Amino acid sequence: MLFKHLYSLTRVPIVLLLTNFPKCLAATTTVTVSGTASHAVPTTLYGQMFESGDGGLYAELLQNRAFQQVTPNTTDALTAWNSVNGALITVIADSKPVSQALPNSLQLTVPSGVNGSVGFSNEGFWGIKVDSSWTYNASLFFHFPTESSFSGILTVGLQTASGNVLASESTEIRGTQTSWAQIAVQLRPKSSAPDTNNVFFVTVDGQKAAGQTINFAMLSLFPPTFKNRSNGMRVDIAETLAEMGPAFFRFPGGNNLGQSTGTRWQWNGTVGSLLDRPGRVGDWGYVNTDGLGLLEYLTFFEDVGMEPIMAVWSGYSLDGDNLPEDELAPYIQQAKDQINFVIGDPATSAPAALRASLGHPEPFTLRFVEVGNEDFFAATTYPYRWRDFVGNLSAEFPQLRYIATTDAWDPILSPTPPSYDVHVYQTPGWFAENSFYYDSFERNGTTYFEGEYAAISTNANDLFGTQSDGRLLWPDMQSSTGEAAFMTGLERNSDIVFAASYAPLLQHVNSTQWTPDLISFEYVPHLSCDSCRSIPCSALMHTQLFSLNVGDEYLPSTLPAANGTLFWTVTRSSSSRDVFIKISNTVETDAEMVFELPFHSVASSGTLQLLHGAQNASNTPEAPNTVIPVTSTISTGKSLHYIAPGFSVSVITVQAQ
Ligand SMILES: *[C@@H]1O[C@H](CO)[C@@H](O)[C@H](O)[C@H]1NC(C)=O
Ligand SMILES: *[C@@H]1O[C@H](CO)[C@@H](O)[C@H](O)[C@H]1NC(C)=O
Ligand SMILES: *[C@@H]1O[C@H](CO)[C@@H](O)[C@H](O)[C@H]1NC(C)=O
Ligand SMILES: *[C@@H]1O[C@H](CO)[C@@H](O)[C@H](O)[C@H]1NC(C)=O
Ligand SMILES: *[C@@H]1O[C@H](CO)[C@@H](O)[C@H](O)[C@H]1NC(C)=O
Ligand SMILES: *[C@@H]1O[C@H](CO)[C@@H](O)[C@H](O)[C@H]1NC(C)=O
Ligand SMILES: *[C@@H]1O[C@H](CO)[C@@H](O)[C@H](O)[C@H]1NC(C)=O
Ligand SMILES: *[C@@H]1O[C@H](CO)[C@@H](O)[C@H](O)[C@H]1NC(C)=O
Ligand SMILES: *[C@@H]1O[C@H](CO)[C@@H](O)[C@H](O)[C@H]1NC(C)=O
Ligand SMILES: *[C@@H]1O[C@H](CO)[C@@H](O)[C@H](O)[C@H]1NC(C)=O
Repeated sequence: MLFKHLYSLTRVPIVLLLTNFPKCLAATTTVTVSGTASHAVPTTLYGQMFESGDGGLYAELLQNRAFQQVTPNTTDALTAWNSVNGALITVIADSKPVSQALPNSLQLTVPSGVNGSVGFSNEGFWGIKVDSSWTYNASLFFHFPTESSFSGILTVGLQTASGNVLASESTEIRGTQTSWAQIAVQLRPKSSAPDTNNVFFVTVDGQKAAGQTINFAMLSLFPPTFKNRSNGMRVDIAETLAEMGPAFFRFPGGNNLGQSTGTRWQWNGTVGSLLDRPGRVGDWGYVNTDGLGLLEYLTFFEDVGMEPIMAVWSGYSLDGDNLPEDELAPYIQQAKDQINFVIGDPATSAPAALRASLGHPEPFTLRFVEVGNEDFFAATTYPYRWRDFVGNLSAEFPQLRYIATTDAWDPILSPTPPSYDVHVYQTPGWFAENSFYYDSFERNGTTYFEGEYAAISTNANDLFGTQSDGRLLWPDMQSSTGEAAFMTGLERNSDIVFAASYAPLLQHVNSTQWTPDLISFEYVPHLSCDSCRSIPCSALMHTQLFSLNVGDEYLPSTLPAANGTLFWTVTRSSSSRDVFIKISNTVETDAEMVFELPFHSVASSGTLQLLHGAQNASNTPEAPNTVIPVTSTISTGKSLHYIAPGFSVSVITVQAQ
């Protein structure tokens, strides 16, 4: 995520690729399409960027499940935990912790004179969805710090805020259990809860356990996951991401690479047993469990069929830490180890051997490594950091393509960056006016990753301001058509733009740090769309339209006016011979268009996918289906007449030989 960087408006002379197209009719835009491709469209073009932590994609339902990175004996350490029926609970620095990485435990002391179930509960992330069609995996570690003669029942379960128990399982525990033991049970709710105002609870019988002290660690509650992976992803979010047809996933940041040197993302803190992951304070102000670790990411990419654009921490953090050159060596080694975990040979590399021991002896796919994140904030030190990281990494991994994160051309870097990651947060108008941004770039082998882009405000003078100043809460048709206009330029320039991703990716509607976002989600069953599905926002819809409807060949066509309001791009699938025409009309007036398709034969009908709505129309939690693409059949031919409605994104697919 970026906080600076407002590009100046670029105007590029209109270059006509074709000379023999008919003169424009009044009010009709005629577009002549070439039957010969100018370049291949990279398979990596449309993907996703991710820079957040828990409470979203990662399916764990408990918040603060392992008391990671908290100060014992504070209120903060008990975030999301509450006492049940008068129990005394506190987070302690355990003198005999469950693991070295997890030094803290939740200590339960049962007071005397309390009847019924006593213990503690966890409120989840903005509640817990209880669905009777789900089986939940619940687990915890416990031990008695002092041996006792106690023997009794420990109950774990799910209940509504008013105490209606929806699922529970009981296990006998004994006070002789002074070493850590794990309890793992499956919870099958007898009914679904009407809302997410539910908790996970752990209790003992108050009378029997009076005076006992029990320590707990690493508690976990998993719903079913995407592809049923243990420690996996939340089904509805993962499916929504997968349905967008992403080619790549940029991870682990973005900003989540680290707020400081000490709290940077470290691959080795994110792999292996959950007991061995210390977690870290992430860049968005909350603790990351790192349960969603390097192997979980890579497995997810394989499950979805996308490839990583993986970042390595490069000696600079958002808090302003810039390491001097003579301190870089261990971090360069750590980056090498991170890459070796992904692609190394288990016979020669310890990180790769670790990967093999965790069940994946084959290397994962990895072609792109990004060196840092938004290093234009640390442009004075990037030249030596880039030089030393890329110098060392490319010596060991010459096959990888390294991506620089400063502004192209400033500062001058050596070795010359193969690629740059470009970020832009701007107005809808900026995006429409800059659809020719890349047309003037030199074709010399350098390629570009439009790694973060979004129209976030209608107010060019206060882009990061408030809603009343124009900041968008949700993508709307104005922002979507502006971005789509820009994306037609990315497609036209996909000989040098190899990847693009909207940012940010995910937003929980009840806890928003940045707007707008590509996908908004919640667990509220009252939504008119499928109860637990994410909200399909119009930004999601046009990015999905672009991502799912792109050929492998770019067909040049009459260029749009760089300063106009109507934009288009044409690609073709060399295998299916489908021609994909995408159009963005960024103003309220309908636009009459004729596409001249000089192919041998053009099918007489094709498919139109149309995203169309009022300028400020957006999908919200209250009205999630305000703007959704409508698919219809349209008549097509060598001369294809089409009226692009005001504020619309259209995709026409037609067979042509
Ligand atoms: C925990 O905090 C309380 C009050 O803040 C204090 O009285 C107590 O001594 C503390 N316990 C430990 C073990 O530090
Ligand atoms: C707990 O139950 C016992 C016996 O059933 C009863 O004598 C006692 O008053 C109860 N205590 C409380 C606090 O309800
Ligand atoms: C997970 O597996 C269970 C059976 O083992 C199956 O019923 C369920 O549909 C699977 N869920 C997903 C998301 O694949
Ligand atoms: C839940 O636990 C069962 C039994 O241990 C296991 O097979 C399954 O993979 C787990 N599911 C998830 C989502 O962790
Ligand atoms: C990861 O390994 C590095 C050595 O490369 C070590 O300094 C660091 O403490 C380890 N980090 C974690 C979180 O285990
Ligand atoms: C590797 O990194 C070290 C430490 O920063 C640096 O001195 C050295 O020049 C680098 N090697 C290459 C080939 O870039
Ligand atoms: C390509 O041109 C750009 C702009 O002139 C320059 O910054 C970049 O280093 C060049 N790339 C190569 C590989 O020469
Ligand atoms: C979460 O957001 C939704 C949609 O705005 C709203 O209906 C719901 O009441 C919110 N829930 C909480 C707990 O604030
Ligand atoms: C757009 O640019 C062309 C060529 O530079 C110019 O002739 C035309 O007047 C411009 N139109 C608008 C609306 O600015
Ligand atoms: C849409 O919002 C913009 C401000 O962003 C405002 O100028 C415009 O009048 C609104 N359009 C409609 C149709 O309400």
